[in-house]
Amino acid sequence: MNIDIINGPNLNLLGKREPNIYGSTTFDEYLMSLKKEFSKIKFEYFQSNIEGEIIDQIHKVGFSSDYILLNAAAYTHTSVAIGDAVRSINSPVIEIHMSNTFSREDFRHKSYITPVAKGLIVGFGIDSYRLGVLSLLNN
Ligand code: DQA
Repeated sequence: MNIDIINGPNLNLLGKREPNIYGSTTFDEYLMSLKKEFSKIKFEYFQSNIEGEIIDQIHKVGFSSDYILLNAAAYTHTSVAIGDAVRSINSPVIEIHMSNTFSREDFRHKSYITPVAKGLIVGFGIDSYRLGVLSLLNN
């Protein structure tokens, strides 16, 4: 199985950014632990702060990847274009958020991705990604 993880803006700062909300682990450290735990899965990781680059990556992997774990970060709440990109591909997308976006500001309650995602995992910290992988193994 191959899983593509796509992270959106500011997630390159994980570990440093608002650690009270997002924790103190960097994504590189976390990715190493995922690769170790799920050694049979081929993970590809992409992060960008630029909306169009995220769309290009969704197009690039969206016809060959078994699954995409997508945390579009703040673009989740604003980007019709990322929602349309997810709608346009074949690979199933699991929407991931570390924080519980529904217990935060109102603008974080809206997602352009949820209506076109296979599933949604929110609020389990960085382990939301791991739960996303587990959900795919069990399906
Ligand atoms: C986030 C939640 C978003 O509202 C926020 O803009 C992020 C991270 C999360 O993983 O909890 O950057 O997607």
